[in-house]
Amino acid sequence: MNSNSYANEDNLRPSILLEIHNYISSMKLLIVNGPNLNLLGKREKSIYGNRSFESYLEDLNAEFDEVHFEYFQSNVEGELVNILQQTKAQGIVLNAAAYTHTSVALRDAIAAIDIPVIEVHISNVFAREEFRHVSLIGAECKGTISGFGLNSYRLAVQAFLA
Ligand code: DQA
Repeated sequence: MNSNSYANEDNLRPSILLEIHNYISSMKLLIVNGPNLNLLGKREKSIYGNRSFESYLEDLNAEFDEVHFEYFQSNVEGELVNILQQTKAQGIVLNAAAYTHTSVALRDAIAAIDIPVIEVHISNVFAREEFRHVSLIGAECKGTISGFGLNSYRLAVQAFLA
């Protein structure tokens, strides 16, 4: 190792330590998006807006220094069940999308874990078709936020921090 690499390590160490400290002291939240939410920004823009979730997540990361976000999206019901069972997060923000209205498996997964889950929806599901008025998961969640656009996720994060 030459003197340059020592200098580089010295420069790096404080920032790595700071990152480790920030990670340890942060609240770990998992955001889970269900089917078709990978198409946010392209899909039914008049209902779901024109922004991808990845771009919105950058805003959340910038806004909430005290939170470490993990993000998972799947179109597959069983994969959503698996991530709920496997995560070590302290809280879960879940937009189960269409599975909200159909999935006993997701409801049972939420009931089976000790981690609080907040149900979110981008649109106001109660102002839409009748089949969207029913949530099979809602009763197992800490609460539900629906109808505030992508801001529904931000409100859920704030609820976890409150
Ligand atoms: C949704 C509402 C659901 O009814 C729908 O199936 C979705 C998205 C929402 O975020 O508004 O895919 O969960």
